[in-house]
Amino acid sequence: MKSFVLLLCLVQLLGCHSVPAGPRLPYREPACDDLETEQAALAAVDYINQNLRHGYKHTLNQIDKVRVWQRRPFGEVYHLELDTLETQCHARDPTPLANCSVRQVFQHAVEGDCEMHVLKQDDRLSVLFAKCDSTPDSREDVRKVCPQCPLMAPLNDTKVVHAADAALAAFNAQNNGSYFKLLEISRGQLVPLPASTYVEFAVAATDCVTTGVTDPANCKLLAEKQYGFCKATLTEKLGGEEVAVTCTIFQTQPVALQPQPDAANPASPPPALDQAAPVPSAAGLAAAALVVGPKVVEVPLGPPRHQAHYDLRHAFTGVASVESASGEAFNPPKGAQPGIAGGAGLVPPPCPGRIRHFKI
Ligand SMILES: *[C@@H]1O[C@H](CO)[C@@H](O)[C@H](O)[C@H]1NC(C)=O
Ligand SMILES: *[C@@H]1O[C@H](CO)[C@@H](O)[C@H](O)[C@H]1NC(C)=O
Ligand SMILES: *[C@@H]1O[C@H](CO)[C@@H](O)[C@H](O)[C@H]1NC(C)=O
Repeated sequence: MKSFVLLLCLVQLLGCHSVPAGPRLPYREPACDDLETEQAALAAVDYINQNLRHGYKHTLNQIDKVRVWQRRPFGEVYHLELDTLETQCHARDPTPLANCSVRQVFQHAVEGDCEMHVLKQDDRLSVLFAKCDSTPDSREDVRKVCPQCPLMAPLNDTKVVHAADAALAAFNAQNNGSYFKLLEISRGQLVPLPASTYVEFAVAATDCVTTGVTDPANCKLLAEKQYGFCKATLTEKLGGEEVAVTCTIFQTQPVALQPQPDAANPASPPPALDQAAPVPSAAGLAAAALVVGPKVVEVPLGPPRHQAHYDLRHAFTGVASVESASGEAFNPPKGAQPGIAGGAGLVPPPCPGRIRHFKI
């Protein structure tokens, strides 16, 4: 009896090994924390930040899922699902991402959720497809960590808009160089005690000089773009208000495809040659969304429930490159069932990967 059972097992065992492993999967599933996966994910995050014009740079938090498809005739395409977190660097801030600190939970963090396709060919990584959205952490989560911390307010909140206007006016008044215009309000928070409004906003230099501005609407952005980013607190006082503002003005952005004879002489601002950029209207400023250059598309504020931040949903059109329209010859053949094929004792791949910062 015993030997019969044993024999049966042996036959089964042999059987297992001799049965063909089913249809071969058309993709591989490396671990989410494998170096190759991380490299593709970092290229994806870099792409996101390179293409952002509004809001804040994002940093990789966790790789949720990865599949690597063979691409005919050459290369491989990483299909990635990524979680990101908002940093404190504005989209136009040239600070390297590694130096940008992550927005913490008590500051009201924002999480991004991205689906990306990254092509690896000859050891070069390029993004074929990008689709993201982003969501602020829930009120409850912030309250758990910090009951008193101010939550993000809608970007068009009257107090937020007023604080940004007053802060920018104060900044321009302290300055005798270029007059800076508001590009966007990036974040606003209403602080209960002392009653005050905290705002962060992006600005850009115009062809006007601060000392002689009569109608800001007539001031055009410089051809050689110079952006800045400001943080301000407007405190309501008895009989008035007090505004404290600090702005960081970034290096000028060289004008593409156009020699700049004035570049060697930073003292004289280049003349405004920027016919390509539409003149921003005062109404556009109030809406905190402006067209600032030929390559930048106007980004509407997200759906109402996300209007306290610039949703990544509006940062890309989904298709990142013409290649992806026709180039992805790696759709899974019908009938290939991941997780079933290959069968014998396959350990599920270790995904999702590690959390780099915190989970919200
Ligand atoms: C970024 O951080 C590194 C290391 O802390 C530092 O050496 C470097 O100067 C920083 N760069 C910027 C632009 O802040
Ligand atoms: C802010 O925008 C929303 C949606 O666009 C609008 O319904 C609301 O009235 C605006 N609030 C203010 C104070 O302008
Ligand atoms: C403003 O101009 C004065 C001279 O009129 C100069 O001393 C000062 O440094 C300038 N301030 C700024 C912020 O450029």
